Amino acid sequence: MSDRQSAQSPDKEIVDLRSDTVSRPSVGMRQAMAEAVVGDDVMRDDPTVLALEARVARMLGKEAALFVPSGTMSNSLAIGVHCHHGAEVLCEEACHIFRYETGHPAAVWGVQLHTVRGHKGALSPETLKLHLRPDNIHMPPTQLICMENTHNRHGGRVIPLTSMKAVFDWSREIGVPVHLDGARIWNAAVALGTSVAEVAQYCDTLNVCLSKGLGAPVGSLLVGPRGLVDKALRLRKRLGGGMRQAGILAAAGLYALDHNLTRLATDHANARRLADGIADLEAIDLNPLDVETNIVIFGVRKPWRASELQMVLEEYGVRVMTVGDDAIRAVTHIDVSASQIERAVDTIRTVLGQEPKYAIEQADEEAPFADEPLPGDDAHSGMKE
Ligand SMILES: Cc1ncc(COP(=O)(O)O)c(C=O)c1O
Repeated sequence: MSDRQSAQSPDKEIVDLRSDTVSRPSVGMRQAMAEAVVGDDVMRDDPTVLALEARVARMLGKEAALFVPSGTMSNSLAIGVHCHHGAEVLCEEACHIFRYETGHPAAVWGVQLHTVRGHKGALSPETLKLHLRPDNIHMPPTQLICMENTHNRHGGRVIPLTSMKAVFDWSREIGVPVHLDGARIWNAAVALGTSVAEVAQYCDTLNVCLSKGLGAPVGSLLVGPRGLVDKALRLRKRLGGGMRQAGILAAAGLYALDHNLTRLATDHANARRLADGIADLEAIDLNPLDVETNIVIFGVRKPWRASELQMVLEEYGVRVMTVGDDAIRAVTHIDVSASQIERAVDTIRTVLGQEPKYAIEQADEEAPFADEPLPGDDAHSGMKE
């Protein structure tokens, strides 16, 4: 049985493209979890957690790593270790930390986010300079810069290393640390044909996730200098993120690093196959060349609306997510095969060959929580999970 075939396979009739977080652990992964040697990780006694932390730190070229339950907690800990109460963080306006992490910088740490317009998700020193706070008693001090690679809401865009380097070099000049939300750094490295350490060299700390493209059920790591990771250990306890025999989960992460890293190229090829298969449809606004990793975001043209298309596709067994009112996101992952992508393409083509079936009321009204388009960027980039 290949690693793609899960112990509890999702219904083979359903092609679930909502997110790369929907994958189920494979038989091999479950076996590794069952056999994990464990201890009490709050007492730092769990050898499997410690092995995962050491391995991830080494891979990323950093001193230390801390295993945490989620990417949100990892990013939150980064804010907590870098910033004082009352500080400000510069981040790109569509980044996950700002859009989809329930406001933890303000709610938990008393830190405000200052969003900056990027170019296709990439920040530049030229723009950041306009937002950097001077040393002035009226203003909150800028204590952190956050980047995201790959960029979720920008459709899995890979932030070029040249642009990361430019921001990082400038951050050295002004003495402000850089945190990278590298939830999908694995995808970025595979797309760039380089190592994750090459990408991670342009930040001080980073979040990496095991539960997205790598197919593990749970887990992220905050990675960086030993002193900051030690500080994060106490803050993790404060947030309730101290887990006991967490080696069962860490074992899934180690297994994922052994088996599921290089195969991400398959997800990228499948995403491009999906994009190539539907881009010519009149109701779809998509340039397949914008698809750089495993996320496909496409605009939906009238008379179709994204919510209706999503609903009808669901009836046909193809699951996607809406991005606001007029765009859809589809994400490829370890539990989606090339033939399922063909099925998704056929289904989308069939459905869009018909007239819209449901009368959606208030068609011209803005959806209440629509993600507004990002001016200056290609249309329809974005998403949540
Ligand atoms: C870019 C990015 N960062 C952080 C997160 C948060 O991860 P989690 O859902 O594990 O909290 C996500 C979730 O999908 C994400 O896409």
